[in-house]
Amino acid sequence: MNHNVDVLRKDFPLLAQTARGKPLVYLDNSATSQKPQCVIDALQHYYSHDNANIHRGVYELSERATKEYEDVRVLVQQFINAKSADEIIFVRGATEAINLVAASYGRTNIKAQDEIMISAMEHHSNIVPWQILCEQTGAVLKVIPITDEGEMDLDAYQKLFSSRTKLLAFAHASNALGTINPAKEMIRIAHSHNVPVLLDGAQAFPHMPVDVQDLECDFYVLSSHKAYGPTGLGVLYGKSELLNAMPPYQSGGDMIESVSFEKTTYNKLPYKFEAGTPHIAGVIGFGAAIHYMQKIGMQQIALHEQELLSYATKKLSAIPDLRIIGTAKNKVGVISFVLKGIHPHDIGTILDDQGIAVRVGHHCAMPVMQRFNVPATVRASFGLYNNVSDIDALCEGLNEVKRLFA
Ligand code: ALA
Repeated sequence: MNHNVDVLRKDFPLLAQTARGKPLVYLDNSATSQKPQCVIDALQHYYSHDNANIHRGVYELSERATKEYEDVRVLVQQFINAKSADEIIFVRGATEAINLVAASYGRTNIKAQDEIMISAMEHHSNIVPWQILCEQTGAVLKVIPITDEGEMDLDAYQKLFSSRTKLLAFAHASNALGTINPAKEMIRIAHSHNVPVLLDGAQAFPHMPVDVQDLECDFYVLSSHKAYGPTGLGVLYGKSELLNAMPPYQSGGDMIESVSFEKTTYNKLPYKFEAGTPHIAGVIGFGAAIHYMQKIGMQQIALHEQELLSYATKKLSAIPDLRIIGTAKNKVGVISFVLKGIHPHDIGTILDDQGIAVRVGHHCAMPVMQRFNVPATVRASFGLYNNVSDIDALCEGLNEVKRLFA
């Protein structure tokens, strides 16, 4: 399908509204994406026609809900090219997926003095679970430094490995800088040291094709709501040999094989990690979102967003006193910036007056702000429905900010 952005925009009812009396310009896709009508319809259809608990009913309705839910597992498996659908675990979000690995894999395999490696560009959700694991086990956190461009310092990375390195976790793409990391190369190096790798794909998955077998990552986490699907849902991919050896993270219904007061045995993959009634409607809505992205094509989406990124980078760079934070060669459609002498929160408020939604603040990546010595940034982040007019509106909005502060 051709990426005709004017046609695609019509699929997103929310985009047609005004904000502060102006046409809405939505540039906060790294925080969450808007939903196409097909996703909204899938949720409504599920609750209107198919709602029943899954894996538990012998009646038709439950069988239908179960099939729809499990079909999405297979869809996700194919979409990210996992070997088996058993390797796809539905969780509450990318954050929960990382917490699951930290708690289950981490507490089983990490001991005092072991080292866990992350990078200086991580989101808090890929920092704090590892810090907690270090506190619990006596392990040590090692941080890969980043360059002034916001790229991974690969020389420092290679030197950071020791015989105690037991796990590496880093972002496939950075939410605060936009950097796409050389994941495949980094994973190859980690594996040469026998170190398993968790890749945080929350900011990459909606913007490019992802192939977990090609990447050879051991774990990959992603979020539905950043990829045009419902909130409250994410996926943990893990190699089955690792997941099989890991103890349950949460316990309760559906994750068991048999329960008695003397002994409980656990269900097989993937159910071992899906305790309690899951977000059935969310999974079905996410299935619709994946079909939608598939119809456009991930290459096509990536190409469109790259074109927007170069257009926006050029236009924003021409604004006097504007400094882009994160100038890596390889980026997703994210531009973080500061304007000399004007606080990002003031910029965000003035842009909001013009109907422009951007995120301002530390973007849940305080160490990135410290690295670049800024208290906060303004961040514009693109999705498949953004167009050149959105970028033009942002630039006009920034000119207005400068006029008001002149
Ligand atoms: N992690 C999301 C962001 O970067 C919320 O905005």
